Amino acid sequence: MKEQDDKLMEKIISLAKNRGFIFQAGELYGGLSGIYDYGPLGTLLKNNIKNAWIKKFVEDRRDMYLLDSAILMGEKPLTASGHVGGFSDPLVRDEKTGKDYRADHLLEGAGIENSEDMTIDEMSELIHDKKILSPEGNKFGSVREFNLMLRTQLGSSSDSSSTAYLRPETAQGIFVNYKNIIDSMHPKIPFGVAQIGKAYRNEITPRNFIFRLRELEQMEIEYFIHPDDWKKYFDYWKEEMNEWAEMIGLDMNKLHEVEIEGEDKAHYSDRTVDFEFEYPFGQKELYGLAYRTDYDLKKHSEFSKTKLQYTDSKTGEKYIPHVIEPSMGLDRTILALLISVYSEDEINESKRSYLAFNPSMSPYKIAVSPLVKNKEHIVNKANEVFGFLKAEFGNITWDDNGNIGKRYRRQDEIGTPFCVVIDYDTLEEGNENFGTVSVRFRDTAEQERVSIKELKEYFLEKL
Ligand code: GAP
Repeated sequence: MKEQDDKLMEKIISLAKNRGFIFQAGELYGGLSGIYDYGPLGTLLKNNIKNAWIKKFVEDRRDMYLLDSAILMGEKPLTASGHVGGFSDPLVRDEKTGKDYRADHLLEGAGIENSEDMTIDEMSELIHDKKILSPEGNKFGSVREFNLMLRTQLGSSSDSSSTAYLRPETAQGIFVNYKNIIDSMHPKIPFGVAQIGKAYRNEITPRNFIFRLRELEQMEIEYFIHPDDWKKYFDYWKEEMNEWAEMIGLDMNKLHEVEIEGEDKAHYSDRTVDFEFEYPFGQKELYGLAYRTDYDLKKHSEFSKTKLQYTDSKTGEKYIPHVIEPSMGLDRTILALLISVYSEDEINESKRSYLAFNPSMSPYKIAVSPLVKNKEHIVNKANEVFGFLKAEFGNITWDDNGNIGKRYRRQDEIGTPFCVVIDYDTLEEGNENFGTVSVRFRDTAEQERVSIKELKEYFLEKL
């Protein structure tokens, strides 16, 4: 990682912590690796993304249904989906320290490519032949498969019927509800089911802040289609995903579509295009688009002994629908967005950093301030303005902490696009600015006077 990129990650992580966006989970007790809590501003940002996603992909369409399925899933459906048998990473243990490492990452680090195509025995052989040692300089044992699912027991019995897992992807909750949705909603193909929710993966080496997590959130769509139409809908969803990325303000110059070839594709996919993003630590996956064929419905039909078909009401044709899956990680969206909007410049010879969010993504849309705290008439007027703006726009904040320069800097840092200040002129009859407030813009630091009477309309146009 270049020093500059290193610094950018450090700056983003420290801003996220110091300004209430993202905290290490369990920090008070030493922290849990690969798990983060979203603070007050991080939660607002997350909700802005989720709401925009639901609006674009569900509310603004006629062919989409929402779902909120359980996080805990039984062993059978996850055996059917291939997760119990196959959702694993190749692991190798430092014989002295007992620490585990990803064998494929070690081989990659040693300049050996295509480790994904190797069996675990081949990996073991290579690690020993090439004399690859652990970072502590110790020998490795043999490579073994490590299942990434987090397992738990339901109830008091320990037999396998009470084994459950924290779902590794939200997608399976959609597939196991396919029949319920068909029977209750009677959708016509093509239609989609969209779900936002937590998923869990026992990643061996969680890293890069919220990039590789053990508890993550996904925004997934399973779009059910006639098998003949898969190419058309694959291209269609590729465009939709690009539109989404642009709409929320991701840096499109840093976003790249990458065709995933052969063995690198997940077991269920006949075609995968990853949307990779240039993070400071390298170009890596942000989103995935997969043509899952009828793999999942067929497997669930087989394992549950239930027909999971679709009957075309016009032609009478019966078939198992095929699926196009746009899958978007919420945490990675937040990371890519923070990287996209983080900016630094100099105003009046003083350095500042700011988050140049689209206003729709900003945690707070407006900050309202009385210029001074000790003049009752100014504070009262500011409260009045705050009250009617809050009633209209919801997420606006009151800021009377420190001097006005410090308030501007603080609001810039958290990405508030507008600061409204009520000052002496606002209340001085005969003054040319009587009845107006100052509105300051985050990105340019310029200001203009706006009449209080027109303030609501003014922001309705801008937000
Ligand atoms: N249903 C398909 C699926 O789960 P995936 O590529 O394994 O496919 C989909 O995951 C998306 O979930 C990724 O593109 C990424 O945005 C996010 N994701 C996956 N693993 C993650 C992790 N360990 N931490 C954070 N986000 C992750």
